[in-house]
Amino acid sequence: MTKVSVCFVCLGNICRSPTAEAVMRQLVDAAGLTDRVTVDSAGTGNWHVGEAPDERSQRAGGKRGYDLAVLRARQIAARDFDAFDLIVAMDDANVTALQQVAPASARDKIRLLMEFAPNAQQRVVTDPYFGGEAGFEAVLDQCEAACSGLLAALRPQLVD
Ligand code: 4NP
Repeated sequence: MTKVSVCFVCLGNICRSPTAEAVMRQLVDAAGLTDRVTVDSAGTGNWHVGEAPDERSQRAGGKRGYDLAVLRARQIAARDFDAFDLIVAMDDANVTALQQVAPASARDKIRLLMEFAPNAQQRVVTDPYFGGEAGFEAVLDQCEAACSGLLAALRPQLVD
Protein backbone atom coordinates (compact mmCIF):
# COMPACT_ATOMS: atom_id res chain seq x y z
CA MET A 1 0.00 0.00 0.00
CA THR A 2 1.55 3.29 -1.09
CA LYS A 3 1.80 6.01 1.50
CA VAL A 4 2.63 9.68 1.15
CA SER A 5 3.82 12.10 3.81
CA VAL A 6 3.62 15.88 3.76
CA CYS A 7 5.06 18.43 6.18
CA PHE A 8 3.82 22.03 5.91
CA VAL A 9 6.32 24.69 6.92
CA CYS A 10 6.10 28.39 7.85
CA LEU A 11 8.21 30.64 10.06
CA GLY A 12 6.76 30.15 13.53
CA ASN A 13 4.58 27.02 13.13
CA ILE A 14 1.80 28.79 15.03
CA CYS A 15 -0.28 30.42 12.24
CA ARG A 16 0.01 29.28 8.63
CA SER A 17 1.49 25.77 8.71
CA PRO A 18 -0.70 24.43 11.55
CA THR A 19 -3.69 25.82 9.64
CA ALA A 20 -2.57 23.96 6.51
CA GLU A 21 -2.00 20.81 8.59
CA ALA A 22 -5.52 20.92 10.06
CA VAL A 23 -7.15 21.66 6.70
CA MET A 24 -5.21 18.90 4.94
CA ARG A 25 -5.91 16.35 7.68
CA GLN A 26 -9.63 17.03 7.43
CA LEU A 27 -9.55 16.59 3.63
CA VAL A 28 -7.52 13.39 3.95
CA ASP A 29 -9.86 11.98 6.60
CA ALA A 30 -12.94 12.88 4.55
CA ALA A 31 -11.40 11.08 1.56
CA GLY A 32 -10.87 7.92 3.63
CA LEU A 33 -7.09 8.22 3.21
CA THR A 34 -6.10 8.65 6.87
CA ASP A 35 -3.87 5.55 6.83
CA ARG A 36 -2.17 6.55 3.60
CA VAL A 37 -1.37 10.23 3.92
CA THR A 38 0.69 11.46 6.87
CA VAL A 39 0.32 15.17 7.61
CA ASP A 40 2.51 17.29 9.89
CA SER A 41 3.84 20.85 10.18
CA ALA A 42 6.92 22.67 11.46
CA GLY A 43 8.53 26.11 11.59
CA THR A 44 11.88 27.26 10.25
CA GLY A 45 12.32 29.28 13.48
CA ASN A 46 12.39 28.05 17.07
CA TRP A 47 10.73 30.94 18.97
CA HIS A 48 7.41 29.18 19.53
CA VAL A 49 8.51 25.55 19.97
CA GLY A 50 6.07 23.69 22.22
CA GLU A 51 3.34 26.33 21.93
CA ALA A 52 -0.21 25.78 20.70
CA PRO A 53 -1.21 27.67 17.54
CA ASP A 54 -1.89 31.41 17.79
CA GLU A 55 -5.30 32.09 19.39
CA ARG A 56 -6.40 33.94 16.26
CA SER A 57 -5.60 30.92 14.08
CA GLN A 58 -7.40 28.62 16.50
CA ARG A 59 -10.47 30.88 16.55
CA ALA A 60 -10.65 31.41 12.78
CA GLY A 61 -10.05 27.71 12.11
CA GLY A 62 -12.56 26.65 14.76
CA LYS A 63 -15.30 28.64 13.04
CA ARG A 64 -14.72 26.49 9.94
CA GLY A 65 -14.60 23.22 11.88
CA TYR A 66 -10.82 22.76 12.18
CA ASP A 67 -9.36 21.83 15.56
CA LEU A 68 -5.95 23.45 15.91
CA ALA A 69 -5.80 23.34 19.73
CA VAL A 70 -4.15 19.92 19.84
CA LEU A 71 -1.18 20.97 17.71
CA ARG A 72 2.21 22.05 19.12
CA ALA A 73 4.92 24.01 17.36
CA ARG A 74 8.22 22.39 16.47
CA GLN A 75 11.22 23.38 14.40
CA ILE A 76 12.05 21.68 11.10
CA ALA A 77 15.17 19.49 11.16
CA ALA A 78 17.36 17.82 8.53
CA ARG A 79 15.88 14.41 9.42
CA ASP A 80 12.44 15.67 8.27
CA PHE A 81 13.79 15.52 4.73
CA ASP A 82 14.17 11.76 5.17
CA ALA A 83 10.85 11.33 6.96
CA PHE A 84 8.62 13.27 4.52
CA ASP A 85 8.01 12.98 0.79
CA LEU A 86 7.07 16.64 0.42
CA ILE A 87 8.08 19.70 2.45
CA VAL A 88 5.52 22.37 1.58
CA ALA A 89 6.46 25.98 2.34
CA MET A 90 4.19 28.99 2.69
CA ASP A 91 6.48 31.69 1.26
CA ASP A 92 9.83 32.35 -0.40
CA ALA A 93 11.63 33.08 2.87
CA ASN A 94 10.55 29.65 4.14
CA VAL A 95 11.92 28.06 0.95
CA THR A 96 15.27 29.83 1.40
CA ALA A 97 15.49 28.75 5.05
CA LEU A 98 14.52 25.17 4.14
CA GLN A 99 17.19 25.00 1.45
CA GLN A 100 19.76 25.73 4.15
CA VAL A 101 18.49 22.86 6.34
CA ALA A 102 17.89 20.28 3.59
CA PRO A 103 20.49 17.72 2.59
CA ALA A 104 21.45 18.59 -1.01
CA SER A 105 19.91 15.36 -2.30
CA ALA A 106 16.50 16.24 -0.81
CA ARG A 107 16.11 19.86 -1.94
CA ASP A 108 13.63 18.85 -4.64
CA LYS A 109 11.17 17.87 -1.91
CA ILE A 110 10.64 21.57 -1.13
CA ARG A 111 7.56 23.07 -2.78
CA LEU A 112 5.40 26.20 -2.35
CA LEU A 113 1.87 25.46 -1.12
CA MET A 114 0.23 27.80 -3.63
CA GLU A 115 1.70 25.81 -6.54
CA PHE A 116 -1.19 23.47 -5.84
CA ALA A 117 -3.79 26.22 -6.37
CA PRO A 118 -2.72 27.41 -9.82
CA ASN A 119 -5.83 29.54 -10.31
CA ALA A 120 -5.33 31.50 -7.09
CA GLN A 121 -4.32 35.17 -7.18
CA GLN A 122 -1.40 34.82 -4.76
CA ARG A 123 1.70 32.65 -5.19
CA VAL A 124 2.56 32.71 -1.47
CA VAL A 125 0.64 32.53 1.82
CA THR A 126 1.31 35.86 3.51
CA ASP A 127 2.28 35.90 7.20
CA PRO A 128 -0.82 37.04 9.15
CA TYR A 129 0.97 37.40 12.52
CA PHE A 130 1.31 41.20 12.62
CA GLY A 131 -2.03 41.95 10.94
CA GLY A 132 -5.76 41.74 11.67
CA GLU A 133 -8.42 39.04 11.56
CA ALA A 134 -8.81 39.27 7.78
CA GLY A 135 -5.31 37.87 7.34
CA PHE A 136 -6.26 34.72 9.20
CA GLU A 137 -9.34 34.25 7.03
CA ALA A 138 -7.17 34.70 3.93
CA VAL A 139 -4.77 32.02 5.22
CA LEU A 140 -7.71 29.63 5.63
CA ASP A 141 -9.05 30.43 2.15
CA GLN A 142 -5.64 29.79 0.62
CA CYS A 143 -5.04 26.61 2.61
CA GLU A 144 -8.46 25.22 1.64
CA ALA A 145 -7.86 25.88 -2.06
CA ALA A 146 -4.28 24.63 -2.15
CA CYS A 147 -4.72 21.57 0.10
CA SER A 148 -7.57 20.44 -2.09
CA GLY A 149 -5.25 20.77 -5.10
CA LEU A 150 -2.45 19.02 -3.23
CA LEU A 151 -4.66 16.05 -2.37
CA ALA A 152 -5.76 15.84 -6.01
CA ALA A 153 -2.10 15.89 -7.07
CA LEU A 154 -1.28 13.06 -4.63
CA ARG A 155 -4.20 10.84 -5.72
CA PRO A 156 -2.43 9.19 -8.68
CA GLN A 157 0.22 7.89 -6.23
CA LEU A 158 -2.49 6.35 -4.02
CA VAL A 159 -4.32 4.16 -6.51
CA ASP A 160 -3.01 0.76 -5.35
P1 4NP B 1 3.63 31.71 11.05
O1 4NP B 1 3.45 33.19 11.65
O2 4NP B 1 5.01 31.68 10.42
O3 4NP B 1 2.54 31.60 10.07
O4 4NP B 1 3.50 30.76 12.22
C1 4NP B 1 4.35 33.81 12.52
C2 4NP B 1 4.35 33.49 13.85
C3 4NP B 1 5.21 34.14 14.71
C4 4NP B 1 6.08 35.09 14.22
C5 4NP B 1 6.08 35.40 12.88
C6 4NP B 1 5.23 34.75 12.02
N1 4NP B 1 6.94 35.78 15.11
O5 4NP B 1 7.62 36.72 14.67
O6 4NP B 1 7.00 35.42 16.30
